[in-house]
Amino acid sequence: MNTPPRNKAPPECDGLTVMFDGACPLCRSEISLYQSLRPLEPVHWLDVSQNQAGMSPEEQVRLMARFHVRDKDGRMLSGAAAFVALWLTLPGWRWLGRVGRLPGVTPVLEVMYRGFLHFRPYLQRWARAAAVKHLPADMVADLRSDHAGETGAVAVYKGMLWASRDAKVRELATHHIHTEQQHLESMNALLPPLKQSWLLPLWKVAGFIVGALPALVGSKAVFATVVAIETFVVKHYQQQINKLATRPDDAPLHQLLMECQQDEREHLEEGHLRQLKPQGWAVRLWCQAINAGSHVGVWLAKRI
Ligand SMILES: [Fe+2]
Ligand SMILES: [Fe+2]
Repeated sequence: MNTPPRNKAPPECDGLTVMFDGACPLCRSEISLYQSLRPLEPVHWLDVSQNQAGMSPEEQVRLMARFHVRDKDGRMLSGAAAFVALWLTLPGWRWLGRVGRLPGVTPVLEVMYRGFLHFRPYLQRWARAAAVKHLPADMVADLRSDHAGETGAVAVYKGMLWASRDAKVRELATHHIHTEQQHLESMNALLPPLKQSWLLPLWKVAGFIVGALPALVGSKAVFATVVAIETFVVKHYQQQINKLATRPDDAPLHQLLMECQQDEREHLEEGHLRQLKPQGWAVRLWCQAINAGSHVGVWLAKRI
């Protein structure tokens, strides 16, 4: 996607400083539209995902979480109020800005914006998957294994939820299954049904068993299982990320896989934090079996 050059904004400027998340395809598309207009006052575009202003990591995360603008008086506005301020400077959008600043309208827009933020991660992934116009031929088998893996991952956490009444296990599984479902949706958007693994029922059953069995034993076995699975998945995505790293044409796919991997890293980290040590021989043997089984699963899913 072509976006106009982005200027590094000075700390204070005489117009509006628009701070947007350039790593988000939805935000990027919207900002590109605004950037194509001739604003009625100076507007400085600041892509906070690039950290052009040398901000702290905490500040960068805060600014990426919501849309912000700083007006010419130095006031920081966010969310709906920020959009209203921006619209008031853009030809063709001023009427919306005027409506937005009517009494009681900005709070309503803010509620709608917060609702959008709730669904934004899901929409971002869908947009990134949709941005991948042509699947590289040498990535189809890899993506088939990713799709099979995410199918299995959803089943793993379903198995844990089915078998466990432990509050910590259920909390972790509920959190992880939500992310795995997002990954699966992304892979579904990427890979046409005929290119998906023909063994999907097998991956579902295998995943369910791999999740349910340790959950029947106890939380110690569950967290060791999570660490074993997510360690494998992080490495699995890394191989594909390395493969795409030097291919600019495949940047959207590269970005999508990096985001999935980042989620898996967080799952791994959460598993590590809860994992109890020392582990008995049975748990260690089980984790080795998961690792070996995952290798076999990838080998099969790449082919069938
Ligand atoms: Fe996943
Ligand atoms: Fe995961």
